[in-house]
Amino acid sequence: MSSAVSERVRCKSLLSRIMSASDACRFINDRDVVAASGFTPAGYPKAVPLALCERLKETGETLSITLITGASVGEELDGALSRAGVLFKRIPYQTNTSCRVGINEGRILYVDDHLSQVAGHCRRGFYGRPDVAVIEAVMITEDGKIIPSTSVGNSPTFLREARAVIIEINTSQPLDLYGMHDIYVPKDPPHTEPIPIRSPGDRIGTIFIDCDPEKIVAIVVTDMPDKPRELTPGNEQTTRIASEVVDFLEHEVRIGRLPKNLLPLQSGVGNIANSVLKGLLESRFENMTFYSEVIQDSVLDLLDAGKIEAASATSLSLSPTRLEVFYKRLNEYRDKIILRPQEISNHPEVIRRLGVIAMNTAIEMDIYGNVNSSHTFGTHMMNGIGGSGDFSRNAYLTIFMAPSTAKGGAISTVVPMVSHVDHTEHEVHVLVTEQGLADLRGLAPRERAKVIIEKCAHPDYRPALRDYFRRAESRGGHTPHILEEVFSWHSRFGQT
Ligand code: COA
Repeated sequence: MSSAVSERVRCKSLLSRIMSASDACRFINDRDVVAASGFTPAGYPKAVPLALCERLKETGETLSITLITGASVGEELDGALSRAGVLFKRIPYQTNTSCRVGINEGRILYVDDHLSQVAGHCRRGFYGRPDVAVIEAVMITEDGKIIPSTSVGNSPTFLREARAVIIEINTSQPLDLYGMHDIYVPKDPPHTEPIPIRSPGDRIGTIFIDCDPEKIVAIVVTDMPDKPRELTPGNEQTTRIASEVVDFLEHEVRIGRLPKNLLPLQSGVGNIANSVLKGLLESRFENMTFYSEVIQDSVLDLLDAGKIEAASATSLSLSPTRLEVFYKRLNEYRDKIILRPQEISNHPEVIRRLGVIAMNTAIEMDIYGNVNSSHTFGTHMMNGIGGSGDFSRNAYLTIFMAPSTAKGGAISTVVPMVSHVDHTEHEVHVLVTEQGLADLRGLAPRERAKVIIEKCAHPDYRPALRDYFRRAESRGGHTPHILEEVFSWHSRFGQT
């Protein structure tokens, strides 16, 4: 055994369970519920799922499993298993093209749950007890504790609940990640206690995950790296959205609604979110904190510039180039970054108490402030609700952002009635497009409609939206609509 392996598998009694991925994947059987680590392509198992697909190809066996993860995982898991026809059901979030096609063709059943609730649902047996947990780790300690890699996700609960456990020790993930995690699993009702996080940098748990060594049936050593996506650079639209958000936050500070260093920030993933964080980097805000689910490149920029004091999340979703630099400078970040289970990073109680500012991306918003984050054309799944509902429903300030049009201007993202509702008018405070910002706080539906159309809609679509609202208003109602016209809007403006 190489010294690299003995350094990482320190529990002597488990050394005999080291085996190849193709041997380990034999512990996965037809109809199993498989629970895997991973959250935004970070910290997910790679060797075992690929070996499983290889086995099916060689033997001609068919397999149908339920796959539960933290959130989206990489090509080696979602992509390979979707293409091999292995996925019967997928829970709770994905961003993979093959998986998305399978879901929209009805071949893969998809349960789009709030990310903070998945661990609790698993403990209560809503998804069936996991037969096998496949968890990526950087190390197993002398006494059999698991040190996860670039994400925590639901791994503590999966390791506790699963009948059998396969650990993928990934030598491409540095041992220096040791100490960055903070594992705390809340007790379930009626024994739940307040979560003692008073500020995003607080540590309340252990640096390892408990696991009964007897349940570990296989340990696979791999060096396959996480395959994160490279971010496309921000453009004029995302920069304009970002400057609207920063100006708004400055205004809130000026009039005393927010403290000078803001409140803990949550930011969704993707280019708009990155642009907003870049805008905050260039702003005069100092001593900010970050309580979110994902740490992406721009969060490291804010840490490097000393603008953020602490960043709490469940996953490190960095671009490939940034991940390399991060690994080299890990020691500088260890005290400032805390990776928690997703039921804590996204916990409604903590989000409400800390007063988080939630900034997420919409696919579609309507003139009354309802938001669709997950579906196109009202029927087709894009990714899922992810953690956006955990934050938006409970935040001090809930902001949704989107370009005012999609598909090269053929679709208005501001519509009379969203074709699918993820976030309702009751929790959405602010909407932003590159056209402007609509502050909806304290406004009734009829007031909201005017502000959203004039501030957020693209000028090409404003006349049609004004005309719709004028005619709807004349029919009366608290939230005026012309129901027979609502859906024809979507086909009239390119959405068929
Ligand atoms: N109607 C039809 N299609 C639309 C559309 C609309 N109103 N708005 C966008 N689209 C299409 C885009 O054209 C694009 O299609 P393409 O891939 O064929 O080019 C696709 O939807 C995605 O749009 P894009 O602008 O690239 O999205 P994004 O990368 O900024 O992601 C979300 C936006 C909403 C899909 C993404 O943020 C998400 O999954 N959110 C939900 C989860 C979440 O918020 N997580 C973070 C919480 S911490």
